[in-house]
Amino acid sequence: MADVSTEYQLNQTDEYVNHLAKVEETNAAKASENIYNDQGVLLLAKGATITEKVAGLLIQHQLKKELDQTIHVSNSLTVYDILNQILELVESNSELNLLHQQMDFEVTLRQLLFTKPIPSQILQRLTVMSRVMPEVYQRSLFSAWFTPLIAKRMNVPSHSFFSAFSAGLAHDIGLMHIEVEAATARHSLTYQQWRAVKTHPIVGRIILENRKIYDLDTLDAIADHHERSDRSGYPAVKAGKQINWLASIVALSDQLFEIYFDPEYGRKSLQAWIPFLEVNPATFGTKLSDTVLGLLKDPHISSHITSDPDLKPDLKKITSDNTQVSALFSVAAEINDIATHYPRSRLARGITDLIAQLRWVQDSAGLGSDHLQEWLEWSQKNPDTNDNIELVEIGELLADLRWRFRRLWSLAVELSWSAVLSAEHQTSLEKLYAQITPYLPCPGRFDLESFRAEAQADNTEPTPAPSES
Ligand SMILES: [Fe+2]
Ligand SMILES: [Fe+2]
Repeated sequence: MADVSTEYQLNQTDEYVNHLAKVEETNAAKASENIYNDQGVLLLAKGATITEKVAGLLIQHQLKKELDQTIHVSNSLTVYDILNQILELVESNSELNLLHQQMDFEVTLRQLLFTKPIPSQILQRLTVMSRVMPEVYQRSLFSAWFTPLIAKRMNVPSHSFFSAFSAGLAHDIGLMHIEVEAATARHSLTYQQWRAVKTHPIVGRIILENRKIYDLDTLDAIADHHERSDRSGYPAVKAGKQINWLASIVALSDQLFEIYFDPEYGRKSLQAWIPFLEVNPATFGTKLSDTVLGLLKDPHISSHITSDPDLKPDLKKITSDNTQVSALFSVAAEINDIATHYPRSRLARGITDLIAQLRWVQDSAGLGSDHLQEWLEWSQKNPDTNDNIELVEIGELLADLRWRFRRLWSLAVELSWSAVLSAEHQTSLEKLYAQITPYLPCPGRFDLESFRAEAQADNTEPTPAPSES
């Protein structure tokens, strides 16, 4: 794939103009000056609104000036709106409010919101986002709260709180240049959609960099917010030490938001974060995971969130999850064997690193082991002696672990398309990821049919990070 940073230009037009047309009724975007194309031809006169028809014209041109600077989005969000929306999100969820109170965070939040003005171009993009991708916007608000909250807990210098807040709030702003369907799809992305999604961290960085008020931490946090310390991320499949520290907090906040709020999987409970962090000790860096676990296990918090002792474990499901996890580990071992043949491939190294970490979780908690299987079968036969809390916890660990195999699946699929692979390994790898497919907790990231047609023509090895040769 070509380097996104040279592909994306600020004066290009893309899906964002269509988003602008879509909010015409509530937040009409008007030209604040004459808009010309790069040849000097007038496309839109000052004062005119971007309608669907206008968007259709604009999208065919490269502009003379960056669009963000030549439009005005009406009823744009203000810094007060953002503060109030964050407080509403946090205060209407009693458990989030616990963290808010524990960290004495309202004062901090108010201070940092007024440290520097949020550039109007960023507020405009967020305004449009709040209309066309409301869930992405909610997640951004959550991240604008959670990222500096954790930075505070980590005792970083307070001047970094603003970077944390800015990165959290704007991390997905690059999604505004792609279509809603691609930006919000969680699985079965087509090849074109995946290509577009992969660019959003870098595009976001470029948009913010051009506003000239953000520090390097904020910019790098945005560029790296989908990288993972276990090398299972994108777009550059960076290793842990290459990933910006703030990026990992933004990445974690994205995940924790989903575990809390997702309409299908969300459990509206801080308790559900604990097993996730425990099976992902190094996905976001151990220091960060330990910080968040430490906060959740603080007596002031944990006394309010401990599991219900009357909760009945679903032993049948837990036992079958354990069998599946055990099968997944066998397939992982075979994938690992293939990946070790390609030490120079970033995807292959991502796979071996991820599997090493999965094994670490397996060894320390015995997940997927025969020993656990025997114990679960015994518990099914002897329900009176069960320690329900422990069983519920094991069930949660197993369920969260299955999600990590979904990442392995994505990496294996991408590696199978890589030009570096021998034909023999390619065939074996295809069989192996097909074996994982039925065990995934939800469909995999890619729509394989659409990929098969197009991906092999294109070498999908990611661009190496500049710091690594
Ligand atoms: Fe993102
Ligand atoms: Fe996000």
